[in-house]
Amino acid sequence: MRERGIAEDQRWRLEQRLAGRRRLETVGTLAGGIAHEFNNILVPIQLYTELAIEDLEEASPIRADLQRVHSAAQRARRIVSDFLLLTRRTDETSLKAVELGAIAAEIGDLFARASADGIEVVQEIQADCPPTLGEPAMLSQIIHNLCANACQAMAPAGGRLTIGARRASAQLVEAAGLAAGEHVEVYVSDTGHGIPEQLRHRVFEPFFTTREVGKGTGLGLFVVHGMVTGMGGAVHFDSESGAGTTFHVVLRVYQPAGEPSQ
Ligand SMILES: Nc1ncnc2c1ncn2[C@@H]1O[C@H](COP(=O)(O)OP(=O)(O)OP(=O)(O)O)[C@@H](O)[C@H]1O
Ligand SMILES: [Mg+2]
Repeated sequence: MRERGIAEDQRWRLEQRLAGRRRLETVGTLAGGIAHEFNNILVPIQLYTELAIEDLEEASPIRADLQRVHSAAQRARRIVSDFLLLTRRTDETSLKAVELGAIAAEIGDLFARASADGIEVVQEIQADCPPTLGEPAMLSQIIHNLCANACQAMAPAGGRLTIGARRASAQLVEAAGLAAGEHVEVYVSDTGHGIPEQLRHRVFEPFFTTREVGKGTGLGLFVVHGMVTGMGGAVHFDSESGAGTTFHVVLRVYQPAGEPSQ
């Protein structure tokens, strides 16, 4: 009886996870289509505002108004471009062997240089971390978004940002909901405020943000999730309120053609 209860519970959880993933995929497709249309509308708004500003006298009182139109259009285009990146479909043929460790180290260096005072950046790149099957530009964006969130979670006091790449353990692969087999992970860990238990199921939703109006769009993790699942991987995170958060991006190990996958 007990065993059957556990099996049913596991099945229920799997179904919930699958339903959640499908919901996100549907939203992604819809949003991608809208983003495409909006981009076409925003390009002329931005362009003609620029031209109008150029034509105005330096002292014209309309200048400041048009500048506002221009920066609003720019912000809208940034949001739209996130969605467009997502819908650039990652079919199997566009994926290639990528050194995850090298990309993680590159972003790590960037954050070490650019981070606010009080943030210590630690890199833990496993030397023999195998290559993964992915898209370099997307992987950079994924790690970048996770590091940005980590830094924001530690502001203003600061803390430690750890970026690592290594072979994924079997437990992590299972926890991430992937089929057993060789995987690698890149992880981004912070010592920030953590994600409260009651919000954990919402962090991947589009437009879910706890940041101030105008500061966060709530697209960072939605984009991360969409890109990672598009590459056949999964995102898993552990968080403890007040003690920090670790996001793990789990991806397949690249298997050269002809070699049987494990
Ligand atoms: N490392 C983290 N520590 C604590 N909370 C986090 C962390 N990463 C994400 N979150 C929570 O998840 C929410 C959604 O994150 P997401 O990156 O999608 O959006 P955002 O950072 O608020 O805005 P955007 O990335 O679009 O600028 C955040 O507002 C925050 O509440
Ligand atoms: Mg973010």
